[in-house]
Amino acid sequence: MSSRPIRNIAIVGVTGQQGSHITSHLVAAGRHTITAITRADSVAAPPNGVKVSKVNYDDPQSLISALRNQDALIITMSVTAPPDTSEKLVRAAAEAGVPWILPNEWGIDGTNEKYGRECFLGPPNKAIRDLIGELGVSSWLAVACGFWYQYSLGTSQDMYGFDLQKREVIFYDDGNTKINTTTWEQVGRAVTGLLSLDGSELESKFKNKFAYVSSFNISQKDVFESVKRVTGTGDSDWKVEYVPSEERVAQGMKALQEGGRYAGFAKVLYGRSLFPNGDGNFEAKHGLVNAMLGLPKEDLDECTKEAIQLSNKIAQGKSGGH
Ligand SMILES: NC(=O)c1ccc[n+]([C@@H]2O[C@H](COP(=O)([O-])OP(=O)(O)OC[C@H]3O[C@@H](n4cnc5c(N)ncnc54)[C@H](OP(=O)(O)O)[C@@H]3O)[C@@H](O)[C@H]2O)c1
Repeated sequence: MSSRPIRNIAIVGVTGQQGSHITSHLVAAGRHTITAITRADSVAAPPNGVKVSKVNYDDPQSLISALRNQDALIITMSVTAPPDTSEKLVRAAAEAGVPWILPNEWGIDGTNEKYGRECFLGPPNKAIRDLIGELGVSSWLAVACGFWYQYSLGTSQDMYGFDLQKREVIFYDDGNTKINTTTWEQVGRAVTGLLSLDGSELESKFKNKFAYVSSFNISQKDVFESVKRVTGTGDSDWKVEYVPSEERVAQGMKALQEGGRYAGFAKVLYGRSLFPNGDGNFEAKHGLVNAMLGLPKEDLDECTKEAIQLSNKIAQGKSGGH
């Protein structure tokens, strides 16, 4: 069933941080009919070229109707959505007979269960993939992209360790551990490429599997070099600190226990992903889909500039970040 070509795609989060970039690349490619699955009371305005299905997550029939005749459901759901929202979508997708689901992953290597458990993201994501399997109708294709580069550099020091406004950086261990990190744009291109594959190729290569995509395989020190180039600063302009990654995780756990939900979680997640054992470097273990999909090489310094713009906007109170 899932080997038929993908024509109709439903997306949750067409105006969201990640979903908007997936949507714009799908629309630009012009190969699919795109439908936004959006809450009835959402103030978001889906872009031109996208059909709209208003849903109520407490009304399964509204989800099933919205998903009928869709070949793929892409879920990019806010981290603040109620935790059972993905489950409701997946159950409705099975009722509606949707062959493919791209679940709400967009991050870590979900095949590494120990790492997933230790940074908390693994078990809930696995539960959704398992549920899709148990329901026995849809196949899943999970996109692992590592951390979003500009967002992780520009939003908070709890992530890649940089405070771009104060010119402070905290390196985990020696700062030389390499991980994969990706731009929203590259994820958008990857999803468009994957869902444009011939149905049998999609099935043979990606049925119930991860697709690994990356913009850069870099360390905090590599990021620092880029930040210095872009800002025209030198080492002496920066306050530099070193913290063992295990200690960073312990700081995050303590913050979580004290009620600092986002700061604590980010410290645990990024600290754990930068363990020198290579858990955050999925490219080394699994390879990437970049070449197969013809994804472009991106310019690190250009992306660093965008992170600095994001940081400036946040400092001026114009943008949030989650
Ligand atoms: N790799 C990374 O660095 C990284 C970082 C953060 C998150 N992520 C992952 O990416 C996913 C998507 O994050 P994002 O930041 O792109 O999402 P987002 O922009 O915060 O939100 C996406 C969409 O979720 C819907 N939504 C918001 N609140 C909701 C609610 N209460 N109930 C139901 N739907 C709701 C909205 O759609 P409508 O208004 O149209 O209904 C919104 O456009 C996350 O869940 C996480 O798994 C990855």
